[in-house]
Amino acid sequence: MKIALLGYGTVGRGVDRIIRERVPDVEVTRILELPDRLSDPRMTASFDEILADDAVELVVECMGGIEPAHTYIASALRSGRHVVTSNKAVVAAHLAEFAALAHAAGVGLYLEAAVGGGVPWIAGIEKVRRVDDVTSFSGIMNGTTNYIVDAMRKERADFAEVLAEAQRLGYAERDPSADIDGVDVRNKTIISASVAFDVACEKDLPTSGIRNLTLADLELFSAHGRTVKLLGRGVAGNGRYAAAVEPVAVAASSLEAAVPSNFNLLTLDGTTVGELRFYGQGAGSLPTGNAIVQDVLDCVTGARRPVYDFSRALAYDPSLLRSDYVLRTTAALDGEPYGPGALLVRDLTAEGARALLDEALASDPTTFMAALPRED
Ligand code: HSE
Repeated sequence: MKIALLGYGTVGRGVDRIIRERVPDVEVTRILELPDRLSDPRMTASFDEILADDAVELVVECMGGIEPAHTYIASALRSGRHVVTSNKAVVAAHLAEFAALAHAAGVGLYLEAAVGGGVPWIAGIEKVRRVDDVTSFSGIMNGTTNYIVDAMRKERADFAEVLAEAQRLGYAERDPSADIDGVDVRNKTIISASVAFDVACEKDLPTSGIRNLTLADLELFSAHGRTVKLLGRGVAGNGRYAAAVEPVAVAASSLEAAVPSNFNLLTLDGTTVGELRFYGQGAGSLPTGNAIVQDVLDCVTGARRPVYDFSRALAYDPSLLRSDYVLRTTAALDGEPYGPGALLVRDLTAEGARALLDEALASDPTTFMAALPRED
């Protein structure tokens, strides 16, 4: 099969290399690049030229961002091309539209690389759903923030110091906001919930990140036998679902607590299979490239043809996701003492907690909040 790559950054180069070295039945014949970066005879700056090439049967989009990726993916699907994408932002924003276009054109839409990099999470959910309902999921879905928290804990270093090191190593972006404020995890949570629960997931999920996490916060939680991980979570049942992104004070003995460096750990619960966990490299050129190539091969061989049908009337109900919360803040809030400068506020929804965090941030912009799972 002849395929086109849209974008030749970290992921696109990984895809090209894996296909060249390991996949003889697939050929990258076209690459969309910026006009000043056309360094290979396969490259063009014109998407229309790629669309006009009838030999191209599948388009891999790994440009990132919403536009023009959205327009290109929609055009490729309308033209009868299969689409494989690693772009979590555009998929989170437009999955229902892409799914409808793919269905109408009778082509495949493959998303594996958009969540969890090389970890076969999306295909894992789809396989579980052949038999089971997915009743909940949770995940360390962002390598950059896991690296930051892990390094803070192990090296007893503060946030800014570790973030600077992560940027030096190329893990964190120059503008790391999407990672540290939870936006990247929100996109991955929206996609996970959509696939797990068969619903065009609510976009405005309660979201908080680790921007204000300090070494002293980690030491406080450590004294309570816990550490902090940024988790995307979702739960569904009785025709309703909820999802959220927030730091969670997980037990120090949990598998989440043990996830090192920039690795991901994704967990689901299925009706008969019970708990399933998926662990691996959630980012990077070759792991993410590998997930894309697996999708390409599923398409080429016909082994897997995902169908996303969002007609199921599942209502978004934030009351399904409740936790106790710890806030380290100088803001005047009602709560029980949890440690120096920290309060425990019991039984909030994730939405209620996000509103309380906003209230605290208004008087203390350094406030940090983490959920305490209620079952502990
Ligand atoms: N910034 C993301 C991360 C890249 O750190 O996980 C992979 O989606």
